[in-house]
Amino acid sequence: MQTSLVILKPDCIEKNLIGKVLDRFSEAGLKIVGLKMTRLSDEVLDEHYAHHSDKPFFADLKKFMQRTPVVIAAISGENAVEDIRKIAGATNPTEAEAETLRAKYGTDVQENVLHASDAPETAEAELKRFFTDEELFTAE
Ligand code: CMP
Repeated sequence: MQTSLVILKPDCIEKNLIGKVLDRFSEAGLKIVGLKMTRLSDEVLDEHYAHHSDKPFFADLKKFMQRTPVVIAAISGENAVEDIRKIAGATNPTEAEAETLRAKYGTDVQENVLHASDAPETAEAELKRFFTDEELFTAE
């Protein structure tokens, strides 16, 4: 069993898509085991997007991610990391497969509905960044 980290971004919140997006994961047999709505601090974003800190879009990305509160979800399944990324679609909504969340609801490469962990090791670190053990539902 894997658990992955998903962040529903400000464009998702503004378009009132929280329920629709979370339902896609539930419908796919994945289980929501952690959920919170919060604002992201400069410090958390610097850590979360450290691998993009030298990119020209980094400052804009941080500003965008702080435009509204975001929804942070921990989602479990046999192959949660890969399954969630398939449902999310490619980073750029114009390159995402039809019916993926980003193809259906994304605006552009930055405002692309959600963040999803890209590997099991990343998921582990990202889950620790946003949830304590007590906040996660662990019953099978
Ligand atoms: P995410 O999966 O959260 O990982 C990094 C984020 O940076 C990405 O989704 C986009 O929101 C954003 N991003 C990636 N590439 C670009 C780009 N070329 N221009 C602007 N934003 C980008």
